[in-house]
This record gives sequence, C-alpha cells and structure tokens, in this order.
Amino acid sequence: MSNIYKDPKTDEWHYPDSAYILSETDARGIIIYANALFCEIAGYSLDELLGQPHSIVRHPDMPRAAFKGLWDDVETNGFWTGFVVNRRKDTGYYWVYSTVLRRVDREGKPSYLSIRTKPTRNSVEKYTKLYAELKDAE
Ligand SMILES: Cc1cc2nc3c(=O)[nH]c(=O)nc-3n(C[C@H](O)[C@H](O)[C@H](O)COP(=O)(O)O)c2cc1C
Repeated sequence: MSNIYKDPKTDEWHYPDSAYILSETDARGIIIYANALFCEIAGYSLDELLGQPHSIVRHPDMPRAAFKGLWDDVETNGFWTGFVVNRRKDTGYYWVYSTVLRRVDREGKPSYLSIRTKPTRNSVEKYTKLYAELKDAE
C-alpha cells in the first residue's frame, strides 16, 4: 500500500510529490491529530504520536533558530512557512516544506495545523547547507 521508500545510501525517506503530511497540535504543541502518511513516514503508530510534543520528530540537524522563527511568526502573523528535516523513529530522516497555521476557537483557545508537502531537491540542498551553518553558529 505504501508509496514511501528509503534511499539506502543516505537514509533519506521519500514520498510522492502529490502527498500531504498533516498534523494538528493543541495550544502547547502537543499532537492531537496526524494523518496516515505522517504516521507512515515518521515510523510511528497514531497511538504513539497522540499526546506527544511535536518535537518527537525533531531532528538534531535542525537549528533552534528555525523553530524560534516558526513560533514567532505563528504568534505574530498567524502562520509560518519553512523547510524542516524530521527524524524518523527507527532510522533515517525526511524533508518537508511546511505551512503552520494558528487558529483560535470561540473561547479564544489556539490550536495549530501543519500542512507539509515535498520540497524540491534544490531547496533541500540549500537548506541542508544553511541549517548546518546556523547550527555551527548556535
Ligand atoms: C503544528 C505544528 C507542527 C510542527 N511540526 C514540527 C515538525 O514536523 N518537526 C519538528 O521538529 N517540529 C515541529 N514543530 C515545532 C515543535 O513544536 C518544536 O518547537 C520543535 O520541534 C523544537 O522543539 P524543542 O524546542 O523542544 O527542541 C511543530 C509545531 C507546530 C505548532
């Protein structure tokens, strides 16, 4: 059933161009929803993800500055777009181009959605270098 695969040379996981990797968190960044592809590509069951902080898929190559930018933009502008490399549970990693949206319910309580698509190889190369530089500077 699965359309995902790992490049055995790099351990990078790939998924179809047309796919969406979706998740939702509560106000504290705790996962309250993930779609089937999220579970598949991250290597977790839905049960393992629900109730966990979103940093469960955080990859050590991601600079702190990127997530600071995410949260600052989301709080200030209501959304953020950017490139993220995530870590799969067992082995390997996968790149996403993510849009994170903040929404507020009638009681004023926020929740967050992330809609992720496949980045171009050019972007992956560019952000691999940029994030390595930012990590070095941190
Ligand atoms: C809707 C939403 C989706 C997120 N998706 C990811 C993600 O795919 N990967 C990730 O590492 N962090 C993601 N984050 C950011 C995490 O909440 C967290 O800030 C980040 O992993 C850094 O964690 P740390 O500060 O505990 O190291 C997301 C946050 C929100 C609100």
